[in-house]
Amino acid sequence: MIDAEPVQYRWHAVVDELSLQQAAIGIILACAAQAIQQRSEFHLVLAGGETPRGIYQELCAVRTDWSAWHIYFGDERCLPPADPARNSRMAAEVWLDHVNIPPLQLHVIPAELGALEAARLYAGTLQTVGDFDLVLLGLGEDGHTASLFPGHEWGAAPGSPDTLAVLDAPKPPPQRVSLSAARLSRTRQVNFLVSGELKHRAVTDWRAGKNIPARAIMPAAGVDVLVESALLETVVTN
Ligand code: 6PG
Repeated sequence: MIDAEPVQYRWHAVVDELSLQQAAIGIILACAAQAIQQRSEFHLVLAGGETPRGIYQELCAVRTDWSAWHIYFGDERCLPPADPARNSRMAAEVWLDHVNIPPLQLHVIPAELGALEAARLYAGTLQTVGDFDLVLLGLGEDGHTASLFPGHEWGAAPGSPDTLAVLDAPKPPPQRVSLSAARLSRTRQVNFLVSGELKHRAVTDWRAGKNIPARAIMPAAGVDVLVESALLETVVTN
């Protein structure tokens, strides 16, 4: 059970996936502008899965100072770097390969090395990084986020490692690397991106206070959830 100060949730209802994408792009660019103005750098953690693909695609065309962007991944699948199922490959194909973010500021998880070694190395990468400016997260049908799955370690407790090696994930592939809930919570802003009827049960459980992995994300500033309005209607089971 997650016993910590209750998190302040802000649920932002959007009508459909397109409006979710537009809202997300607005949030990312506003966060980037503020971070660059205040600290000359923008540290962004990317969500994996399919939901953010359209958002990343749209970012190719925006006007921003790409030289100030620093990109991290919330989790990665232990597959070869060129595998289309890699979160890093997806983001590169639709966005990162087409903009001028300095290569040294693209922090890919070396998941091809296997979960244990990649988790160890990525923890090293994060050691010199402070709080993120924005963390983007998806939500799975079972309430998982990043690669933090029900019945597995989430790394929510203070002092948890920054990264976790996942060896038997219920969502393929089984081997994955995830940032821990504690490290994902060290951020100025978190935005979940939730669309699709398959997520309805998970949203209902989340709002009912059920102990799903998404609830382990507990940044001091609270949590923003961009969600299709239909998913906010409580799923009633007979
Ligand atoms: C992954 C993701 C995972 C994802 C959710 C939602 O690598 O699988 O990081 O946490 O965000 O499973 O996935 P979809 O957006 O594809 O529904």
